[in-house]
Amino acid sequence: MENKQIAILGAGSMGGAILSGLIAAGTAAESIRASTATAATAKALATKFSISTFSLEDSASANAEASKGADILLIGVKPGKVIETLNQIKDTVKDGALVVSVAAGITTSAMEEAIGSKVSVIRAMPNTPSIVGHGVTGIAKGKSASDSEMGIAKQLFETVGQVLIVDEDKINALSTISGSGPAYVFYFAEKLMVAAQKMGFSEQEANLMVRATFLGSATLLAASEHTPKELRDQVTSPNGTTMQATNKFDEAQLEKLFIEATGAALARAIEIGKQT
Ligand SMILES: NC(=O)c1ccc[n+]([C@@H]2O[C@H](COP(=O)([O-])OP(=O)(O)OC[C@H]3O[C@@H](n4cnc5c(N)ncnc54)[C@H](OP(=O)(O)O)[C@@H]3O)[C@@H](O)[C@H]2O)c1
Repeated sequence: MENKQIAILGAGSMGGAILSGLIAAGTAAESIRASTATAATAKALATKFSISTFSLEDSASANAEASKGADILLIGVKPGKVIETLNQIKDTVKDGALVVSVAAGITTSAMEEAIGSKVSVIRAMPNTPSIVGHGVTGIAKGKSASDSEMGIAKQLFETVGQVLIVDEDKINALSTISGSGPAYVFYFAEKLMVAAQKMGFSEQEANLMVRATFLGSATLLAASEHTPKELRDQVTSPNGTTMQATNKFDEAQLEKLFIEATGAALARAIEIGKQT
């Protein structure tokens, strides 16, 4: 990625996380530019990261201006704006540039059709822990992207976490595990906080216990060579207190519920893909 000019078109939560990751990884601010819808966001990003920014509020050609001369174009706008954004840049984009989109549901073939054949397209599915440098991103190549361009995309997302290379027909499934996964974890945290408060702890106490337990457990899981089941067994003495609780999860058929829940997320991803 060295010496590459990078344009982030749509630097919001996800585009902004990757922007932060790039700067933290030592990418020169002069090699990055970003576009946004509003002038206020553009100004805030320029002040925070000392990068050049362009907003649609200031100029209708902001995306074309930001993309001029860029070797890598990260598309960080909402899915409904991706094709419009590609149409805005297709006449000014550099020959041989690499377009990497993080938009859910927009296929590489739809993007290739919009932008034409002078660039390569890669589709990515990051997750929100990218904001703190602990993301997981799945990347899939479009029909003209080379292995070395996949290597560049991998490096890009490694600035904010880990990367998994998958075939595009697996991207929706990946999004139901690592893409939506943080929501499942936060959902568990939320419910455990309610249980703690029902036991008489204050919100502040529940908050401390739950956040620290999730952080500690996730850190242990990441550092340990044991499987999640083995780590769980270490906490669960036969017929002890923990087992009474996990038996309740088993009675509620938690595994079946996870399979159904991720299946429902996958069905919705396929439905969204058909609408766009
Ligand atoms: N958030 C996630 O968990 C997540 C995970 C995986 C993938 N994604 C994908 O990431 C993409 C962005 O999601 P997000 O959550 O980051 O949304 P977001 O925070 O709303 O960011 C969108 C950004 O795009 C800018 N923008 C809007 N219209 C634009 C246009 N026409 N041209 C250039 N910039 C424009 C917005 O500018 P202003 O700030 O000025 O409004 C904002 O900075 C989506 O396609 C989503 O599918 C998100």
